[in-house]
Amino acid sequence: MNRKTILSEQDMPRAWYNIQADLPNPLPPPLNPATGEPITPDMLSPILPMNLIEQEVSTERWIDIPDQVIERLLMWRPTPLYRAYALEKFLGTPAHIYFKNEGVSPPGSHKPNTAIAQAYYNKVFGTKRLATETGAGQWGSALAFACNQFGLELKVYMVRVSFNQKPYRRIMMETWGGKCVPSPSPDTNAGRKYFEQNAEHPGSLGIAISEAIEDAVTSKDTKYSLGSVLNHVMLHQTIIGLEAQKQLAMVGEYPDMVIGCAGGGSNFAGISFPFIRDKIHGKEIKIIASEPTSCPTLTKGPYVYDFGDTAQTTPLLPMYSIGHDFVPAPIHAGGLRYHGMAPLVSRLLVDGLIEARAYSQLETFAAGLMFARTEGFIPAPETNHAIACVIEEARKAKEEGKEKVILMNWSGHGVIDLSSYDAYLSGKLEDYALQDEEIAKLVKDLEKYPKPR
Ligand SMILES: Cc1ncc(COP(=O)(O)O)c(C=O)c1O
Repeated sequence: MNRKTILSEQDMPRAWYNIQADLPNPLPPPLNPATGEPITPDMLSPILPMNLIEQEVSTERWIDIPDQVIERLLMWRPTPLYRAYALEKFLGTPAHIYFKNEGVSPPGSHKPNTAIAQAYYNKVFGTKRLATETGAGQWGSALAFACNQFGLELKVYMVRVSFNQKPYRRIMMETWGGKCVPSPSPDTNAGRKYFEQNAEHPGSLGIAISEAIEDAVTSKDTKYSLGSVLNHVMLHQTIIGLEAQKQLAMVGEYPDMVIGCAGGGSNFAGISFPFIRDKIHGKEIKIIASEPTSCPTLTKGPYVYDFGDTAQTTPLLPMYSIGHDFVPAPIHAGGLRYHGMAPLVSRLLVDGLIEARAYSQLETFAAGLMFARTEGFIPAPETNHAIACVIEEARKAKEEGKEKVILMNWSGHGVIDLSSYDAYLSGKLEDYALQDEEIAKLVKDLEKYPKPR
């Protein structure tokens, strides 16, 4: 009985997998909102370094991981693949449940897989300072850790509701030398607009992105860094699925299902894209993205061109979206409160290669508690969405008497999110479900933009 499968450091993948090389239909291009024309790489250069822009548009199947990135990733990678025997036993399911533990990184989630790469490419490019946003604080802390590794300054705009809920994330950022302010902040035009109306405005990822982009464009030697959504972020995360493929082969298994939670789509992409490559080449495998009912981008949003941020500073991205003006309910899975979804993940849903499900906050905390009380590790509130889906599928396997192999991305631990468990355990958490009429109102304004094909 192998409770966990460990890859050697030598077996850690040395190249990322770029799914753009295998897509059945190419990704529609981002558009310039003023002209409706595709944007060119140099139009992104005020916000991103050219080496990352090249990755953003690359269709090369494999992209080598630079040595200096490998060196940092080896601080915690390869991550262990666990077989969740105790959860299986508790559920009485014949399913084999595997989870890839991305919570073992120094900041506690999958986010440093791309933070390290982005800090490295910025350093090589000559960037001195980065600006970014963060929801739950996982991304901000991951980038603070990465900037510290490569000697870059960092300013993080943290969605205020999470800033208040999760003070320890800010302290982590400061420990690694980053600066963190609640968003909307009075420091940018984009933030001031909301801050002056209401100094306790809960904020949203869309507003925080606008603030960070404005900071990058108006400050010296500064670039913007995004923790999800963009193609190069999905690319850097594929190391998760590539490792999992090797680890499952070591125990002689292949998944019937791959499951990940989806906020902007990066941990889901990380675990699933290498398996979607197999699916494109004929493997039968179910790939499921799990999201909150309070922010049901993939399950209820239309596939449209929309802005990545609230102040409409980004290009128009082809994605499932519930509208850039969306201000989410204050659920604890802060990292899943984004209005859009990665264009690559969105495209795969349009093409029927993946499916999506939504779960309510209370269902996901019940799932997280079951996991913590069987497997021991306390999951991040975001990760609980993947667990809820795994439990649903494991129960189905029991009803059908089928020995399904389920692979889940365990995207992060919840040790810094204990206040949300406290709220759940004391009966203070509520469910929020975004209604169709509200979504219809939020996306009405997008009708004036072209439709992605
Ligand atoms: C632990 C964890 N899981 C999932 C997510 C969602 O992001 P993504 O969809 O990019 O993986 C976040 C975002 O902050 C996170 O911290």
